[in-house]
Amino acid sequence: MGAEPGWGLSTLSVHGAGPGTDAERLTPSTPTVQPIYQTSVYSFPDLASLDAVQDGTAEGYIYGRYGLPNHTALERAVAALEGGEAALACASGMGATAAALLAALSGGGKVAAARDVYGGTYGLLEELGRFGVKTVWVDAGRMSEVEAALAEGCRLLLVETISNPLVKVADLPALAAAAHRAGAFLLVDNTFATPCLCRPLSLGADAVYHSATKFLGGHSDLTAGVLVGTAPFIRDARRVAMRFGPTLGPHDAWLAVRGMKTLDLRMARTGENALVLATFLAKHPKVAAVRQAGTIAAIELAASDAGYLSALAPRLKRFYLSRGALLRPLGNVVYLLPPYCSTEADLRGTYDLIEESLALA
Ligand SMILES: Cc1ncc(COP(=O)(O)O)c(C=O)c1O
Repeated sequence: MGAEPGWGLSTLSVHGAGPGTDAERLTPSTPTVQPIYQTSVYSFPDLASLDAVQDGTAEGYIYGRYGLPNHTALERAVAALEGGEAALACASGMGATAAALLAALSGGGKVAAARDVYGGTYGLLEELGRFGVKTVWVDAGRMSEVEAALAEGCRLLLVETISNPLVKVADLPALAAAAHRAGAFLLVDNTFATPCLCRPLSLGADAVYHSATKFLGGHSDLTAGVLVGTAPFIRDARRVAMRFGPTLGPHDAWLAVRGMKTLDLRMARTGENALVLATFLAKHPKVAAVRQAGTIAAIELAASDAGYLSALAPRLKRFYLSRGALLRPLGNVVYLLPPYCSTEADLRGTYDLIEESLALA
C-alpha cells in the first residue's frame, strides 16, 4: 500500500509508508496500551465527516490544539480519580491554572487567594492585575479574613489543599461553604495532596487542578496540568485553552497516564516516608517545629542553630522534606538532594514567605 511505480525520492520520503493497512489501523485485537498519537492533524474521507466532528454530531479529532486521544485518556483518568464530570489536559500546571482563571473570570473582577500559594500562581495572579483582575491575599486558615475578602466582592477563592511552600492544610468544606454563601467559585490546587489524599470536589470545591508534572506524573519526565470540574465549566476552559493554546504534547499526556498507574502505591509509600522523617526530626534538638501533611514534611530549625547553615544558604532556617522532594524534583520516585532552591523567590514578589527555605528530598 506504500510506494507506487514512478514515484521519485521526494514523493517516496513523504508517502512511502502509505496510509497503512487495515490490520495496522483497526483489527479485532487492539493495543493493550494506548498508542501515542504523535500527530497534529487528522485527515477525513470527505467534508461531511469533518463537519460532523467539527459541529459535535460525531466523535473524532481534528487538530492537536483542539485535543488528541492521549489528552482524552489523561482527562478521563484524572476526572475519574477526582470524581469530576469532565477534565481538560494542558501543557503545564500553570496552563491549567490560567485556563481555570480565564474561564471563571470575566471583565476583571476580584479574586481571593491564599497568601502562600505556589509562586507561579502568585505571579499569574499578579500578571492578571494588568487585565483588571485584583487579588486579595488571605490567610486561608483564618475564616474571618477569607469571609472579609469574599464580602469585598471576590468572585473566586483559590487555595491549595496542602500549600506550597508552607504545608498548610486547607479546611475545604468550610472554605466551600463560605465561598458559596458569597456566591463565589472555589478553585483548588490539589497538586500536593492528589486524589489519593483528598478529593476537593467531594468537599464542595467547584473545580480542581493539578500540576501533573509532580505526583500525578511521578517521574520528573513530563510537564502537564489537568483541570477537573463540571462539564459546562470544562467546556468554557477548553474554549479558552483552544484560543490561548497551552496545548499538551501527546507524548507527555501518554507519560502522565502511565505514571498515574502507580499513583496510589507511590503516595502511600511517600506518606509513610514523610511521617518517618517528620517523627524523627520532631525529636531532634536542633529542630524548632515540624509540619507534615500527607507526603510533605517541613521543618524549622531553632533560631540559635540556623547560623551554622549560613555557609550553605544565607539566612537559612527552614527545610522542606519529602520522599520525592519538594519544589523542582517534587513528586518524583527518585530520592534527590537538590541544592537550595529559589524557584519561589524567582517568581514571587513577596519574598518573605520563603526567604529562609531549603528544598531537600
Ligand atoms: C502546587 C503547585 N501548583 C502549580 C504548579 C505549576 O505547575 P507546572 O510547573 O506544571 O506549570 C506547581 C509547580 O511547582 C506547584 O507546585
